[in-house]
Amino acid sequence: AVERTLSIVKPDAVAKNVIGQIYSRFENAGLKIIAARMMQLSRAEAEGFYAVHKDRPFFKDLVEFMISGPVMVQVLEGENAILKNRELMGATDPKKADKGTIRADFADSIDANAVHGSDAPETAAVEIAYFFPTMQICAR
Ligand code: CMP
Repeated sequence: AVERTLSIVKPDAVAKNVIGQIYSRFENAGLKIIAARMMQLSRAEAEGFYAVHKDRPFFKDLVEFMISGPVMVQVLEGENAILKNRELMGATDPKKADKGTIRADFADSIDANAVHGSDAPETAAVEIAYFFPTMQICAR
């Protein structure tokens, strides 16, 4: 089925100037960018986005990292978009990510891991709504 997923190019990848290279991977896999915005997250915005992880030991470092510089946030649409994006990203820990994945090629550590992608349809819907009002999504 055609799905939508929320993708974030994290501060490490923005700082490396590889937004375009990452977008090319989405496009080459048949995923369309149907909304996008570059932004500097506030602490409250980052904490809200990652609220499901608030009791995890890595939460504080994760939030610090996500507010360390601008991020590029986008909605990807396509057949099986959620799983497809997760395959393109590779494992959360870049040391475990398959060769040729975004994280294997661009990520430095489990925190500075280049990209985020929604993990399921329910979280995708919540995450997309967190950043984009319906009016700002350019269905095509
Ligand atoms: P992301 O997909 O953005 O979702 C939560 C983030 O927490 C994850 O990517 C990692 O960057 C970060 N993180 C740090 N430590 C861990 C861990 N042990 N397990 C999962 N995620 C972690």
